[in-house]
Formats: sequence, structure tokens, C-alpha cells
Amino acid sequence: MSNEKVTVSGPARQGEMYIKGMMGAKPVVPFDPAKLAAQAKEKMNPDAGGYIIGGAGTDDTIRENVDAFGKYRIYPRMLKDVSVRDTSTELFGVKLPSPILTCPIGVLEMIDDEADKAVARATSKLGVPMIMSNQASFPMEEITAEMGDSPRWFQLYWSKSNDLVRSLVQRAEKCGCSAIAVTLDTTILGWRVQDLDLMHLPFLKGQGIAQYTSDPVFNTIVANMDFGDNPLKLPPDLGVSPETFKAVQTFTGVYSRPSITWEDLAFLRSVTDLPILLKGILHPEDGALAVKYGVDGIIVSNHGGRQVDGAIAAIDALPKVVEAVRKAGSDMPILMDSGVRTGAHIFKALALGAKAVCVGRPYAYGLALAGQQGVEEVLANLMAEFELTMALAGCKDLNEITPSTLV
Ligand code: FNR
Ligand code: LAC
Repeated sequence: MSNEKVTVSGPARQGEMYIKGMMGAKPVVPFDPAKLAAQAKEKMNPDAGGYIIGGAGTDDTIRENVDAFGKYRIYPRMLKDVSVRDTSTELFGVKLPSPILTCPIGVLEMIDDEADKAVARATSKLGVPMIMSNQASFPMEEITAEMGDSPRWFQLYWSKSNDLVRSLVQRAEKCGCSAIAVTLDTTILGWRVQDLDLMHLPFLKGQGIAQYTSDPVFNTIVANMDFGDNPLKLPPDLGVSPETFKAVQTFTGVYSRPSITWEDLAFLRSVTDLPILLKGILHPEDGALAVKYGVDGIIVSNHGGRQVDGAIAAIDALPKVVEAVRKAGSDMPILMDSGVRTGAHIFKALALGAKAVCVGRPYAYGLALAGQQGVEEVLANLMAEFELTMALAGCKDLNEITPSTLV
């Protein structure tokens, strides 16, 4: 499939569907987000379903992430001339067609052989920035080779090895990333009962560690057999090749450093001039600290309910973080993810102060159902629905999506 650029227009996309339907076509992926999730679950093997769909504990936060959007109601205005609409925005000097990016999602090889490469081709066709995961299934160099000049960011997990952190960030710079999002909420994996019931963690099979095995610093650590302070004492008969065993053992030793604090951010600042965003902020006081420690942006997120079961819904956390950051004197962009399923959700997030949203599981569901095309369809549908929602609420561009558009 080519990466020829595609521009999405809400009414044109909607019209195209109805016309194709007249000629007997069926949707590539369901438009209804609940059907999309259900069909993807059917398609995935149990291990993939457990990891991709599941969350921490009782999935309370997964449900709340979506349900909480219902509390905020759009207050449409009439007779506002919305014949010409503009959904574009700008982030760190890069123009986006729509206030949408894709979330970093690790281990996509569980649901599609082309994994991140398929996502790269889909996002680049639409001009949607892709946030490449630290736990991707392909090295970032191979992912970016699929996306021409389309915008991309890199998501970083803070390894126990600062040399590895530096190396990953420098590779991201070479890959043309326009920002680094450092994820703070997963220094330890949450208590994921679906994975535990299956007794399955993809990383132990060597899945989702391509950014590591392609890294010269990581490979030096492997060669020196310096596994760090490894909480997982892997038995030699794990059932993987000796080479994978060494990589997995090293990965589980160096993956993250739960001792990181605000003071450590200075190190990240010292190794890159790229904008740094903190992913996983929920508390307003952490928003104020983000200003104090001089970062460039925030992604309000609870990691899609995969970390703290019972955590506040991201959309509920958003307005308080925005208020705290603005009060601290910063106009840094604040993004959000966790629970974004519809164009209306995107509208509400923007009205509550988000500059843009990151879409997560829905694109993974599209990938599971129809590969690259499935990702394209899911993203194009969200772009179209957002545009129509914006127009029908009486707004012709993002500047008009103010808090007064909600009750
Ligand atoms: C994630 N997420 C994630 N985040 C991150 O910073 N690095 C990563 O590698 C991953 N990996 C990952 C795998 C899977 C299977 C999921 C579902 C999520 C979290 C992701 O970026 C985002 O915060 C959530 O997906 C948002 O929640 P929803 O909207 O997808 O439910
Ligand atoms: C997860 C990690 C990879 O959520 O972010 O599984």
C-alpha cells in the first residue's frame, strides 16, 4: 500500500461511506467504537487480547476513562457559519491536520507482523504524528524509514542505564523526532490480572524489545553480562534461544529505574535540545512541578488504566492540571490520552484545555482487524467525526473550542 498523502474531510468521508454502501460495500472496520473493540478481541489470540485490551486490577480505570467523558456535555451554538472549517493545529513548530497523535503502544507484533511499520505507513498517509514506543517491535530507524517526512516523536522509558537513555534519545534525534515523551507512570508494571491469569508477559519471549536489541549501548551491556539489579531471576530453561535469553535477561534488568525523581530530568535536558514532554501526569501539583522543572509539555494520562486500578480518569484530571500549569505561568502544550474513543471525546478534551489528544487502543484494534488499512480507517474516522462535531457545535476552528462550549 502506498503512503500517498490523504486529506480527510468529515462530510466527504461520510458521503463516501453511504455511496459505497449503495454499491454493496461493508466497513473495513466498525465505526462504532464498542463494535471495533469487540471485533478486535475476537480476532486476537488470548495472550494478545490479555495484553492489549487488559488493564490493571478490575479494569475500573479503563471503564472510568471512557465513562467520565459523559459528565461533560457539549453545548452547541447555531447560525455561526461553519461552511469553512479548519481542524489543523501546530505543535512544536510542526503543523498537524487534526489535533490527533497516536499513542506509543508496545509489542504490536502480537497483533500484526508489520506492527509499528504498518502504523508508520498509516499515520504518514494522514499526516498524523506517530509517537514511537520504547517497547516497539521494530527499531525506530526501521519504523521511520516507512514514514517519509511525516512527523514522529519518541517515547522514552527511563532505563537504569543513563548511557542507554542518552543513546535512545540520540537515535531518536537522528530519526527526525520532533519531541521526546518520557513516560513516568510505568517504572514498574501494574498488577495486570488478565496477563497474570494467562501467566504471560510478551517481553519474556523477546517481544517488544527491538529498540534495545538494536542499540549499541544495550548490546555492550549484554556483552558485559551486566544485568543491573534484576528482580526477575530468569531460569536458564525459559524456552527461548540463548541469544534471546541474554537480551531478555538484560532488558528485565535495565528496563526502568523506579528511583527517578524530578531532579533526574536535568540529565535528559542535558542530552537533547528536543522538546521534552512528561507522559503520565495526573495531579495538578505535578503539573506545577513540571513547570518548575522546565519541561516543554505534558501528556495527561493514566496509561489507559494499565497501571493504577482506581486512578482518576484522565479527562477528569486534565482541567485541574491545565489550571495548575497556567497558574504557574506556563503556556506549554498539554495533551491527553486514555479513553479517547470518539470525535466528541476529542472535542471535550480540547474544550477542557488540551492542545491535542493521543489515540491509543482504537488504532491497535484497527491494526488487529485490517493491518495498515485498519489503522488508517480508525484514524480517518476519528478525524472526520471530530470535524463534524466541531462544526455542529458551532465552531469553525480549534480556537473556538473554549470551555464555554461545554456544560
Ligand atoms: C500502552 N501504552 C504505552 N505507553 C507508553 O508510554 N509506552 C508504551 O510502550 C506503551 N505500551 C502500551 C501497550 C498497550 C497494549 C497499551 C494498550 C497501551 C499506553 C498508551 O500510550 C496510552 O497511554 C494508552 O493506550 C491510552 O489509553 P487508551 O485510550 O488506549 O485506552
Ligand atoms: C505497557 C508498557 C509497555 O503498558 O507501557 O505494557
